[in-house]
Amino acid sequence: MTLDWRRRLFHPTVEQRLPWLFMLPRDIGLFLKSARTDAKVARLLRNKAAGDTFEAIYRESADPWASASPRYRYQRLKCERLMALLPKQRFRNVLDLGCGLGLLSQQLAKCAEHVLGMDISSTAIGHARQRGAALSNLDFEPGDLLKLPPSFDGKFDLVVVSDVLYYLSPLDRPTLSSAVHKIANLLSPGGICLVVNHYFFSVDPDSKVSRNIHRTFSDCPRFAMISEHRRPFFLASLFSMSALSVPAVP
Ligand SMILES: C[S@@+](CC[C@H](N)C(=O)[O-])C[C@H]1O[C@@H](n2cnc3c(N)ncnc32)[C@H](O)[C@@H]1O
Repeated sequence: MTLDWRRRLFHPTVEQRLPWLFMLPRDIGLFLKSARTDAKVARLLRNKAAGDTFEAIYRESADPWASASPRYRYQRLKCERLMALLPKQRFRNVLDLGCGLGLLSQQLAKCAEHVLGMDISSTAIGHARQRGAALSNLDFEPGDLLKLPPSFDGKFDLVVVSDVLYYLSPLDRPTLSSAVHKIANLLSPGGICLVVNHYFFSVDPDSKVSRNIHRTFSDCPRFAMISEHRRPFFLASLFSMSALSVPAVP
């Protein structure tokens, strides 16, 4: 324990070397824009299917969550922080589910032979393709994480699901459990999954939803938690396939 404390103090990990407070006062604008977009998503989801909802969102704004805006540094540093949480290895086949504009997919492409970014909005995929055109090991395809083709099963040694699952509608236990099992089906033996969601002050409703999502993964006997990271303002968990993992649960 003492040794670990000293090691962390004198040999900080890559993540520890990143600025702790990675939000500037100006980043409040990003949170306001995200909150407005999320409120619109919630309104649209009452009457539209998820595909139509996110298509409408991306048609109205090319960057609905201001994730690519150079004005804000939060998203860029969050991306770096997430990359630093991954084991230092070269991945073979990576899937970034709900990739949006593909900014994290671009970072993932630096440590993988191939990355596929997938999003339910074709407009988002169009933007992601343009942004990532220079990277030959990066592809983007439209797709719903709840309706992935069986050919994806067992194909990926890393699956990333960042800020996506709280948009599932309805966000109830059966829908979440079904999504978690579908994600487990995607992993090759020894594969890992990085799950990321908003996290504020732990007692607010959004943080409770995020904790519930992550709990669904840790409760699933097909996953074993490797590590959990609470950061301002996200919760990130790394899971591996558990020894108990049995494939193809619907
Ligand atoms: C807040 S953005 C997150 C984008 C990116 N993952 C990131 O971390 O910056 C949420 C994205 O999830 C996508 N999405 C929502 N539901 C989805 C689903 N069922 N299948 C695939 N993508 C989905 C949306 O279109 C949107 O681009």
